[in-house]
Amino acid sequence: MTERMSQRRKILVTSALPYANGSIHLGHLVEYIQTDIWARFQKMRGHECYYVCADDAHGTAIMLKAEQRGITPEELIAQVRAEHEADFGDFLIEFDNYHSTHTDENREMSSLIYNRLRENGHIATREITQAFDPEKNLFLADRYIKGTCPKCKTDDQYGDNCEACGATYAPTDLINPKSAISGATPIEKASTHYFFKLPEFSDFLKEWTRAGHVQDEVANKLGEWLDSGLHEWDISRDAPYFGFEIPDAPGKYFYVWLDAPIGYMASFKNLCQKKEGLEFDAFWKQDSEAELYHFIGKDIVNFHALFWPAMLTSANFRTPTRVCVHGFLTVNGKKMSKSRGTFINARSYLDNLNPEYLRYYFAAKLSSGVDDLDLNLDDFIQRVNSDLVGKVVNIASRCAKFITKGNNGVLSNTVADEALWQQVAGAADSIANHYENREFSKAVREIMALADAANEYIAAKEPWKLSKEPGREQDVLDICSLGINLFRALMVYLKPILPAMAMESEAFLNDNLSWDSELRPLKDHHINKFKPLMQRVEQDKVDAMLEASKEAVAEASTKPITGPLADEPLADEIGFDDFIKVDLRVALITKATHVDGADKLLQLTLDIGGETRNVFSGIKSSYQPEDLEGRLTVMVANLAPRKMRFGLSEGMVLASGDSEGIYLLSPDSGAKPGQRVT
Ligand code: 2FM
Ligand code: ZN
Repeated sequence: MTERMSQRRKILVTSALPYANGSIHLGHLVEYIQTDIWARFQKMRGHECYYVCADDAHGTAIMLKAEQRGITPEELIAQVRAEHEADFGDFLIEFDNYHSTHTDENREMSSLIYNRLRENGHIATREITQAFDPEKNLFLADRYIKGTCPKCKTDDQYGDNCEACGATYAPTDLINPKSAISGATPIEKASTHYFFKLPEFSDFLKEWTRAGHVQDEVANKLGEWLDSGLHEWDISRDAPYFGFEIPDAPGKYFYVWLDAPIGYMASFKNLCQKKEGLEFDAFWKQDSEAELYHFIGKDIVNFHALFWPAMLTSANFRTPTRVCVHGFLTVNGKKMSKSRGTFINARSYLDNLNPEYLRYYFAAKLSSGVDDLDLNLDDFIQRVNSDLVGKVVNIASRCAKFITKGNNGVLSNTVADEALWQQVAGAADSIANHYENREFSKAVREIMALADAANEYIAAKEPWKLSKEPGREQDVLDICSLGINLFRALMVYLKPILPAMAMESEAFLNDNLSWDSELRPLKDHHINKFKPLMQRVEQDKVDAMLEASKEAVAEASTKPITGPLADEPLADEIGFDDFIKVDLRVALITKATHVDGADKLLQLTLDIGGETRNVFSGIKSSYQPEDLEGRLTVMVANLAPRKMRFGLSEGMVLASGDSEGIYLLSPDSGAKPGQRVT
């Protein structure tokens, strides 16, 4: 698509709604950064563009997680939403609205759409039989059933496929199936379910998926599904379920994936309520001229490019202009891994590194295709340092002082090399087209080639030498003024990717970096004193981030969150021989201190009768260090030492815990440090 600048387009952009039961990680950020860059670009070009998102707050997983933590689902989703919004904000993801699917707008919109589907004859009901947990009184999705693989006999496999041999099967095929929630043996139980009649939209979808709304490779995949025949889609779940009750069906709830995409509409509706003059219908009515773009990962294509356009059509709403599908993130060439420390949460990154490094690196690698994107950490350091610090900032830092000192900060009124200026300013349309087509890596390549040309010009002219030759003041001023103008043009092009650096550049240039008309050089214009605009990426900060990521995993496993017996079923039976392997000892806490940089840990020095142990324990939320000193507790003394970011942890103290507190075990008075606990 060629980017249109003259006509003011109405554009609504979304990213997939993150589930409200987990933290944002760098894998998520590929999408939010990609979408944010695209939306910022559209706004810079003067279009009426809105970028909305929300937390995806419904479903069994969220219900169970809240229960495990001893809080209500509403409390859980409020906590997670606050964390998500902080992470996105710090990564400079600029939503026009961030909402939740558990809101009045979404309830109303979901009911409206469901009622229209039903009135149009697109809802069927029938009884189905499913696995049911008789202890929890809960129907079990396949992933909540575990058992022995019928093929290779490996234990502890999920209800639909075996991780050991790759076999796929029905949960009823599992040997000795158990509910992963209570440990009970599931029974079969029938109930009425509500279905969306997707097959009635086969012809429409065959056409729609080939009409330029998705990338060709995605259309091909969809074509395979369409050719093999669509099935009716089960859109209901039985109580107990955290979601919206279906209007005419007490005890039945909308499946989370029914109301999740409707959350895009609900978030926009909420924005319309806040923003005077913004009309919901102008963007969502069937013949709307506005453009609608959904950015999503390749794992949720069926929901967005089959179910969603079919639902929208049945409910008399417009369909997406485009569903933009991206691949997954790998780190150092491999799937993100908790044990390698490459499962990096947004916060672990932000605690150590500048968000714009990652925005730039992702942009430099993003294309419009669905290939996975690799974050190679050595390449990341090298690329950010060489491109942003070595090329772009370097232009300004080499030229600024000759303007500040030589001419009181005022640029010259001539363009020293018209051809070079034309080369850089003339690239605007081509770069804009790359942005428009989501070919960010091409845009970055072109921008960096221009940065090379600017640096070569300055290196060839050597203003630092000329400045020492009498009578060459004007030449130095003209050369460096062009340098500053070239820097300005490059920062205009980079502004969607680097909004914070662009803002600091605006302060330095004493000018707005706008891109809604042709670029013109600044002449006779006063600029401010240059300050370094970006620091180099340091290897030790990257290392610290990886350590922090390992730590976050280790820390999560030191925190006891358990429920009463009814909620936290007993573990599998063990023999006495197994029990005796665990060496439990009475331990005297001789010292307890806070750990710099750890939210949940205390460092304990433990005396176990002549031997001293250092243990990091996730009990900080319930204990002041000074209250622990001198107290007896019980520790696992023969646990293999674990290397943590803060040092070696040599064992574990015993505690129970729930959402209200953590309770450290203590022997009765009279027990002696070092005594074995049996
Ligand atoms: O896959 C996911 O993480 C979903 N929460 C995405 C939902 S996108 C939209 F449909 F709401
Ligand atoms: Zn198997």
